[in-house]
Amino acid sequence: MISWRDAMSVGVPALDADRKKLIELVNLTHQAIKLDSWPQIVDVLNVLPSYAQDHFRREEAVIDAVQFPEAAEHRKMHEALEEKVRILSVTFRAAATDAERKSCGARLNSFLQEWLLEHALKQDMKYKTFIPKKATPASAEQILQMGLSQPTDAELAAERKARHEARDRDVEYALPPNLAHLLKRMDYVVPELPASAKDFDSFEKLCLAAICRRVDTILVFFQRHNPALRLELPTFFLASPEFTGRLHQVIEKFVFPTIWDSRQVRMLATNFDWASENADSFWEHVTRPLERSILQGWITAWDELRLLENHRNGVKVLQVKDTTKEMRQMLLPSDPMVYDIPKIGNREIGVFKSLLDPANDWSEVLNRSWRLCYDLYEQEKDPRVFQEKARDGAFRDGLLAVFGRFPPEWADFLVLTCHRVFPRVTTSFLERFATNLGRNEAEREAHIPYTIRYLRQVREVPEIREREREQETEWEAKMKELRNYLANRTPLDHASNMAGTVP
Ligand SMILES: [Fe+2]
Ligand SMILES: [Fe+2]
Repeated sequence: MISWRDAMSVGVPALDADRKKLIELVNLTHQAIKLDSWPQIVDVLNVLPSYAQDHFRREEAVIDAVQFPEAAEHRKMHEALEEKVRILSVTFRAAATDAERKSCGARLNSFLQEWLLEHALKQDMKYKTFIPKKATPASAEQILQMGLSQPTDAELAAERKARHEARDRDVEYALPPNLAHLLKRMDYVVPELPASAKDFDSFEKLCLAAICRRVDTILVFFQRHNPALRLELPTFFLASPEFTGRLHQVIEKFVFPTIWDSRQVRMLATNFDWASENADSFWEHVTRPLERSILQGWITAWDELRLLENHRNGVKVLQVKDTTKEMRQMLLPSDPMVYDIPKIGNREIGVFKSLLDPANDWSEVLNRSWRLCYDLYEQEKDPRVFQEKARDGAFRDGLLAVFGRFPPEWADFLVLTCHRVFPRVTTSFLERFATNLGRNEAEREAHIPYTIRYLRQVREVPEIREREREQETEWEAKMKELRNYLANRTPLDHASNMAGTVP
């Protein structure tokens, strides 16, 4: 057990309070290991990411305010520590067996010890001399406040980007040119929603725009992709901006009229000054019962478009309405290479139905889950975390855990999005992944129909597998080279190269 002593103070009460909290976490973890208590480890891992973030930002504000000359280096150390926290908690969440959890607990323990002894009690002490000696608690708080003048989100994002770039440069610098690219942060495109439409001349138009907007927040998530990846086959329909436009037209023509039919929805126009609202702010005026009527209209309208099952002489016959035929036509791509969509049946209608949730803005959960997928990918399949052997299993289990948070129809699109963004989530990975979701193709198809459809198309283009095999061989060779190179460096090199690794 470690206890607080005055010599551990850095002279700023708020930071000292943080340091006491760190000691608490160290002790708690130590005790949990001794007692073999996982719930306690989970408790620590739950608070650790936000603790680290809050503390580091507070401290960085102070060292900036007192113009600590080594502020930039110190920030980098924080970033490396934060990355380790992130990896630790992801690893723990992905751990499937007791043995794995145990080893995570042990890693957490040694990591916290290192943080306290190496960073807090050595590195942090370096800025202590820059804190004005006669600082009263009040003036020390003023320094903190000075540095904490709230940066905007955009400023924070820009700062983070700059830090990542600086780190990437350092790492690359330390590596021979033929290996440098292996440690570069993966780049991919995350399309953003355009600004919310406003200035509607009728309440009806605002209503329609607001509904399409909710759908778009989900669709735009699936539009992320990695332009550096060569994908021979067209993307799945949900990921295509052209499809989004076509779906809007279908919603306007076949779905919105049913929603608009509801007297309650039309009455909403009298409840607020809609003329000054936009497609996002609209939702702030929608009450729970109204959400339900909007959703009800949405579901009824899509159900109207379903194919009807009839049985004639014991044979199942699907009857397609004219409106459904028209919808099918409207959702076809301008060119087959723009996106892939099967002939629209009840399954697809089910997918469209899952895209509106008036009670939830899914984007935040989607983005948080994506972050988890990204972390898992980095940890299990990316060389910046020098794992002896990439573990498909942990990545797969992590993905499956993520899917559980969303409507079941989305699992397909999430896994295909990983394929479109992560270079090593190849079609062979998709094949192996699919085998976990059913004993045979029919069972798998029930879970992830579009992935199975995609894999069938892949089998018809042998060049895809060939290219993947070549890339994999090349990758393995480079990895071996990288490992050899890193193994032969001195420990000092290692310390200066903060690649966010878990020891
Ligand atoms: Fe600190
Ligand atoms: Fe620090």
